[in-house]
Amino acid sequence: MTPKSPTTVDRRLAWFHRARFGLFIHWGLYSIPARGEWVMHQERIPHEEYAPLARRFRPANFDPDAWVALAKEAGMKYVVFTTRHHDGFSLFDSQVSDFTSVKTAAGRDFVADFVRACRRHRMKIGFYYSLLDWRFPAYFAGPKRDPQGWERHLCYSHAQVRELCTNYGKIDLLWYDGGWVPWAKGDPALNDTPPTDPWRAKQLNAAVRKLQPHIIINNRAGRLEDFDTPEQRVAPSAPGRAWESCLTMNDHWGYCAADKNWKSTTQLLHALVQCAGGGGNLLLNVGPQADGSLPAPSVKHLRQIGAWTKRNGSSIYDCGRSPLGAGAVGLTTAKGDAVFLHVLYWPGEDLCLPDAGGRVQSASLLATGKPLRLETRGDRLFLRGLPKTPPDHRDTVIVLNLTK
Ligand code: GLC
Repeated sequence: MTPKSPTTVDRRLAWFHRARFGLFIHWGLYSIPARGEWVMHQERIPHEEYAPLARRFRPANFDPDAWVALAKEAGMKYVVFTTRHHDGFSLFDSQVSDFTSVKTAAGRDFVADFVRACRRHRMKIGFYYSLLDWRFPAYFAGPKRDPQGWERHLCYSHAQVRELCTNYGKIDLLWYDGGWVPWAKGDPALNDTPPTDPWRAKQLNAAVRKLQPHIIINNRAGRLEDFDTPEQRVAPSAPGRAWESCLTMNDHWGYCAADKNWKSTTQLLHALVQCAGGGGNLLLNVGPQADGSLPAPSVKHLRQIGAWTKRNGSSIYDCGRSPLGAGAVGLTTAKGDAVFLHVLYWPGEDLCLPDAGGRVQSASLLATGKPLRLETRGDRLFLRGLPKTPPDHRDTVIVLNLTK
């Protein structure tokens, strides 16, 4: 049988699979009240009261170079930036909106600055864009009750997506959000049926692909497109389907001053390994403060993860599902004939794996290359003579080389 040649989608997704790890950045006007990016809606703040925040949005410490450099240090390969969130404030220049960072106090196209920083660091570039904009009453009313208003919303969102795909050179990834609609189930009072493609995403994506032939597009415009985006959980899609989990480091995407509920670096690292081992990616979020600076715990997490990926990155990048399980000690990832055993729970000097089926030829510590002694007993494989305490307390990686 001749091997299946990669499809166009596979080819477009190749870098994404190699990357496995990216940075998500949620930043906008909502960073000023510092109660998360949903504050406008959750507190029912009228646009007239919310909009003046733009007069105060002059971030003295906005330094996209530092953001991207930190992502690189963490071992990330791409960055996804909120070009416009649900509040409607665009961080880029737009012909169809005055509510932008260019036409208000900042007087600056933050998306352009972000793109430049990514290019400087050879980072893949992702644009987050929320189709919905809470400022449009028609978004809540729907096309049946407000056909003209809804048409205006559609035109505006489509136009902005086209601007983003036209004005910034090559963009690698389009991360739609807000593709759900309040009237998704149809309105019984109007004898309505559920809409099939409320955002006309089929048409929009066709335009996007014309402008950016290499771009990959997520599944949040109400269409399947290139990859799934489980939120706040690691949930592998069926083999063959690309996916990316997005996770926050505390409980919020946008900066929330009172949220001190930070996960541990170990938890985040384990999530990364779980993603890679399920053939997916991790998009880990930071919510910079209004002045552009990153909350200290986020920086600490990224640096610590970076120290680990520097030594163990080859067990993540381009890796996927493993034919061997990790038994009691943790998780596995794999690439080619190598299985990476991520020992999260160090057992001491001897480590036992079940059902290796005689396939493991040799084993060594990934970080140092130190070979390990193997002993097979029936369906049990023992690794002998390990150090008493784990060389890496978060995750010590052992490489198992399989027979071909
Ligand atoms: C959600 C939220 C949003 C956040 C996003 C990240 O859809 O509405 O605030 O940006 O998920 O996955």
